[in-house]
Amino acid sequence: MTHAENLTLPTVPFRAGQSRQERQALLRGIASEHWLAKTEIGYSVLTYESVIGVLRDKRWHSAAGLAAQIQGITDKEFNRERVSILSAEGEVHVRLRRLVAPAFSPRSSDRLRPFMRQVVNELVDPIAASGGGDAVEAICEPYPIPIICELLGAPKEDWQLFSRLATDVLRIFSEDLASQVPIIVAARKELNAYTRELIANRRDTPTDDLITDLISAEEEGDKLTTDELEMMVEAVIVGGTDTTRNQLGLALALFAEHPDQWELLRNDPSLAPRAVEEVMRYHGAVGGTVRFASEDIEYNGVLFPKGTLMSASMSSANFDSGIFPEPETFDITREPVGQPHMSFGSGIHYCLGASLARAELQEAFIVLSQRMPQLALTGTPTYKPTGVGIFGPSYLPISCEPGH
Ligand code: HEM
Repeated sequence: MTHAENLTLPTVPFRAGQSRQERQALLRGIASEHWLAKTEIGYSVLTYESVIGVLRDKRWHSAAGLAAQIQGITDKEFNRERVSILSAEGEVHVRLRRLVAPAFSPRSSDRLRPFMRQVVNELVDPIAASGGGDAVEAICEPYPIPIICELLGAPKEDWQLFSRLATDVLRIFSEDLASQVPIIVAARKELNAYTRELIANRRDTPTDDLITDLISAEEEGDKLTTDELEMMVEAVIVGGTDTTRNQLGLALALFAEHPDQWELLRNDPSLAPRAVEEVMRYHGAVGGTVRFASEDIEYNGVLFPKGTLMSASMSSANFDSGIFPEPETFDITREPVGQPHMSFGSGIHYCLGASLARAELQEAFIVLSQRMPQLALTGTPTYKPTGVGIFGPSYLPISCEPGH
């Protein structure tokens, strides 16, 4: 067994202004020779097998709770000790997952599909009528909020309030987190108060929504506390809004560059589920996630001492030619290989909202391929900085046939 420090490893240099494409090309290049590389924060696993190996090994713990610490943030309220499903480990995590999982089943997501279609249709009306515009502003940004509100049972008149709170809570992904802390703390307070009211309402009048499902979720006499219900709503916002809107943006950019694939989808909407998987394999909005060693860990003959930070590069794993033949080819008719893409993660933190996200993207693909058959770029898209966890376009100028 060799101590990781004593290995001669390729390094992934971080360069300011590096585009995501450049960084991915670098990582994928290294992955064809090595399963492990040295990065600016620690190490990164790069191949399908090693990414799964780390994500499914419970000794590697989520680093989601460490971002504030790494950035030196000491604000007490911001760092308050509240368990979040995104960073919980061990028994605490198992219990939370067991209680909430049924509420996030494919069947629960399916009941929102007609609503999803209606939302996409309403969003596409103006841009289709005018023949084009910025798809991010018109479609991708607004899309997830009504869905999350409907999921939670928040009424339409609260969409705007919710959208503002979500935007502020999502500042946790800012590169300059320290300056955003007061805004985030205030938004969390407001969101928690709002959620408590929703919970009180649903306790009186149960409805067909997520809050009601979570309130009634029970296992062997165990139930979620009000504090945990508030945490779950925050986790749904943090996990379910920016991810979905960026993934849809990346999808539209990809299809605009591959009109043959867009046409295939338009002519055969039953390809939508496969198209979602291929888009997420080819260009996932979450390209990697970070773990830390909760103890000394030996993996693949290498010793990683306690505290080691390890990135799991899902975007490299998704291009592992041992799993996905001809990975550089974007092909929505790709036969499922039995090994799914890694863009929803793997192991105990596997995306809780995967069914919902799949349904949202499938419905959007079906409606948009019908309503914008001539999708094309009219300029160069602008992308978000690569440093933050969730990636996608911030500006996507498109043209689409008017009047549909
Ligand atoms: C295309 C959209 C989405 C992508 C790419 C995505 C990606 C991911 C990834 C990669 C993880 C694992 C993170 C890690 O291991 O560190 C994750 C976890 C999670 N996601 Fe998603 N997600 C999406 C949509 C959603 C939606 C719609 C929801 C909620 C309704 C959601 C809620 C969550 C939650 C709560 C977790 C934490 C689960 C746990 O730690 O047990 N996500 N997501």
